Amino acid sequence: MPSPALLLNLALDLLSRQRQPRVAEPELVMDDPASAESFMLAGREDGILAHTYLYHAIQASAVIPSGATVLDLGCGPANQLTFLARLNPDARFIGLDAADAMLELGHETLTRNGITNTRLCAGDMTALDAFEDHSVDAVVSTMSLHHLSDLEALSKTLKEARRVLRPGGGIYMVDFGRLRRQASQVFFATENAARQPQMFTEDYYNSLRAAFSLEELRAAATVFGSAARIRRTFLVPFLVAIRSTASQPPRLATVAAARSIHAALSPRQQYELRDLSRFFAHGGFPLAFKPW
Ligand SMILES: C[S@@+](CC[C@H](N)C(=O)[O-])C[C@H]1O[C@@H](n2cnc3c(N)ncnc32)[C@H](O)[C@@H]1O
Repeated sequence: MPSPALLLNLALDLLSRQRQPRVAEPELVMDDPASAESFMLAGREDGILAHTYLYHAIQASAVIPSGATVLDLGCGPANQLTFLARLNPDARFIGLDAADAMLELGHETLTRNGITNTRLCAGDMTALDAFEDHSVDAVVSTMSLHHLSDLEALSKTLKEARRVLRPGGGIYMVDFGRLRRQASQVFFATENAARQPQMFTEDYYNSLRAAFSLEELRAAATVFGSAARIRRTFLVPFLVAIRSTASQPPRLATVAAARSIHAALSPRQQYELRDLSRFFAHGGFPLAFKPW
């Protein structure tokens, strides 16, 4: 069950007349080794973000066909890619990031987890010059769009995603949406402050301030036409997903891998995963399958 404080903040944000201006991330490309490492540690299987990576891996897998080539924009330290690669062992993943510090950590993550169906490359998601038109079967991106400088960069990124994607290819791009109240941003950033490093709390707050609004994301996503739909969490767009309209039933290997990862999560992480699933499901975006 969500806490009363969370429900109160959702309700206040929904009813608020305030609008927060977008404040771009102080570090667009995450090249500072200390913040890259703090982010990497949070996303490992024993980290506080592990449940979100399993959540997105399950949702993204619904748009990843068997044998697909999948491009992950702003892959960071490859935590998300590790979950995706484990759920889709017959797909081939390419992680792209503009930060050398992240790519270095990403290589370590892939090696530590024995992931062999994934490679990483340096690049800018606003200009995917190394990729031919229609050359990938799916494009994914998790928690990276808010690192773009402005609306123009967001629009360029989604246009590039459409260009490199084969017609009918899979789309799963998820990120924070901008909340209306500064108090809500502070609430979400500090909700788990006691369980996370100070640097992570600060990064989290910066991310919420840098998030694009639901309307901005919706406008940019029109580039996909009817091939994608925008989904958001319950009551407020705390998280927003741009996802292919078409999806496929889960494959046995995907379900088995998700179950095994889920079984290895701590009870707290399992609880957080269910909570996140409900938060999106009540906004009209149910989990593709339940790993519990
Ligand atoms: C908050 S991290 C998210 C990483 C990963 N997707 C995840 O969910 O763990 C955002 C990442 O986007 C990268 N990034 C920012 N701007 C970029 C750009 N223009 N092109 C490619 N990567 C970019 C940053 O370097 C950083 O690694």
